[in-house]
Amino acid sequence: MSADLSPIDKAKFAAAKRAADYVEDGMRVGLGTGSTAAWLVKCLGEQVREEGLKIRAVPTSTRTAALAQDVGINVVSLDEAKWLDLTIDGADEYDDDLNLIKGGGGALLQEKIVATASDQMIVIADAGKKVDTLGAFPLPVEVIPFGWQTTKTLIEETLTGMDVLGRTASLRLNGDVPFVTDEGNYILDLHLNRIGNARQLSLVLNQMPGLVENGLFIDICDTVVIGHGDGKVEVRDINAGTVEQNQIDFVENDNLFTDLAE
Ligand code: A5P
Repeated sequence: MSADLSPIDKAKFAAAKRAADYVEDGMRVGLGTGSTAAWLVKCLGEQVREEGLKIRAVPTSTRTAALAQDVGINVVSLDEAKWLDLTIDGADEYDDDLNLIKGGGGALLQEKIVATASDQMIVIADAGKKVDTLGAFPLPVEVIPFGWQTTKTLIEETLTGMDVLGRTASLRLNGDVPFVTDEGNYILDLHLNRIGNARQLSLVLNQMPGLVENGLFIDICDTVVIGHGDGKVEVRDINAGTVEQNQIDFVENDNLFTDLAE
């Protein structure tokens, strides 16, 4: 069944499988959102069912919560868990300092709250997510629906004074209606092309009324696990300054590879 996976899916699976090694019995674990994080949830579900792994998991979206419950993971709220040992999540872009753009899946608010409430955040990604400078991927920001067009104008005007190459914002749609987040908000995607000073931009954006949170994750991620289509995996730990290489074998496993849709 793994033969049916595209190289990119194999890369995502390899990263997720390697990152699952970081999860230990008794941990409180944040579960990210997106296609790479979905592989992680399936890997952890398998460990729960087949090896008796005991964890309490806090999902970062209703989508992830449903999948985690489906595969047998014990799901709790962040308020129940209070603090997490580890969060593992995907990313849309990461740079050399492991600063990230997240929110392509629309879950950036819960993802940032959960990652910030964790002793460690590990990002799992295929190699295509690495950039020299953040910003080619449109930066998602979550805004409240009230007055969103005014907020959008305010953001575009503020971008005039920022070190970016593009300055337009677009409302994310779901078909022909606004995409609505789990918190009932809208997403604006900022087409910046290149973000010269991500830290400054993040601070400025978060000062705006109507803007709930932005998708820049600065100094939150500790480790990136980069998967490749041939099963090679690279683990970069920014605190230890280490880079480790591993190889993941694609073992045929019908349970894990049954649902390729995510
Ligand atoms: C979800 O809101 C995002 O932050 C995802 O983590 C990000 O879009 C990565 O998704 P993929 O793993 O599907 O690329």
